[in-house]
Amino acid sequence: MPATARLLRVDPLAPDPATIADAAAVLAGGGLVALPTETVYGLGASASDADAVRRVFAAKRRPADNPLICHVADVDGLAALALRVTPLAAELAATWWPGPLTLVVDAAPGLPAETTGGLDSVAVRVPAHPVALAVLRISGLAVAAPSANRSGRPSPTTAEHVLADLGGEVDLVLDAGPSPIGVESTVVDARGDRPVLLRPGAVTAEDLGLDLEQTSDPTHEHATDLGAAESGRSPGTRYRHYAPVTPLLVAARDGGAELAAQAAAGGRRVGLVAPGAVPPGVIGLAAPIGATALAAVLFAALRRADALGLDALVVEAVDDAGIGRAVMDRLRRAAAPG
Ligand code: TXA
Ligand code: MG
Repeated sequence: MPATARLLRVDPLAPDPATIADAAAVLAGGGLVALPTETVYGLGASASDADAVRRVFAAKRRPADNPLICHVADVDGLAALALRVTPLAAELAATWWPGPLTLVVDAAPGLPAETTGGLDSVAVRVPAHPVALAVLRISGLAVAAPSANRSGRPSPTTAEHVLADLGGEVDLVLDAGPSPIGVESTVVDARGDRPVLLRPGAVTAEDLGLDLEQTSDPTHEHATDLGAAESGRSPGTRYRHYAPVTPLLVAARDGGAELAAQAAAGGRRVGLVAPGAVPPGVIGLAAPIGATALAAVLFAALRRADALGLDALVVEAVDDAGIGRAVMDRLRRAAAPG
């Protein structure tokens, strides 16, 4: 195991072929490569290499029953991993790939149980980031890649975040700058006739034509808010995620500055993520306008609050619609008591 990862800068608009070939060779040799994607950075290993995938779980300290997403270059890569590609999966892939949508399908026999978490299904996506896509195309591999954070930490949106969590355990980090979207992919169960939303993301429920009443699981307390994500059908959503050390307060819309000013009373060091002016005595971390902009800065702000050792972080809510549904899902989880 290397003491520190090799770090290579790569231009996201014109990835250097030698760097891509280097990453492909590390993966083919059973190594771990942190890859930029359009959502967040992933910790990649060859999906067919059980030993390499075990190293991913060990590096992240991830529970073994929480399966990984397999990244492939194109829809043929999906067909190779799936027992069957349903008409729904084919249609969603044709519409949204490459892009931030993960499809759960029945798994082909022969995939290591390490990759699927022992389930008979597998989660697959074609990422839209030129660097990730180039590595997948050149290597010809299916690459199992969870977010490249230590389990329970916010997902990484920069190479620095990856190094902070996993610098001692990853062989190579490709640094292509900040992840453009900033929240993880939408996960959809595509085994039936209609998509079932397991995790909200940048491909929205509205994009998928989902009637939110129908996507929710009425047997579950949070079903209306979170679709099926809390119902246990997506194993990863059972765990508390995205947890900053700094206590997180979610303010109502237009209420961020006031809540932060109150929290800062008595000299407490309070950070604020909200559009508009930062009140005196409060530390402004980001001023995103709208849900897309908040998605892009949220995880970095959670990490920054911890790095600064703040007493509290206030994040102002956005509308629970479109990508705002994904942002509010991550915020609720991060704010939930341990
Ligand atoms: O945007 C993303 O999806 C990023 C980048 C790197 O691609 N990856 C990512 O992976 O977020 P991870 O491991 O942090 O999240 C994978 C999610 C978990 O909630 C996991 O439980 C779910 O996908 N998942 C994986 N396989 C599944 C399956 N067979 N059935 C249901 N859910 C599954
Ligand atoms: Mg993750």
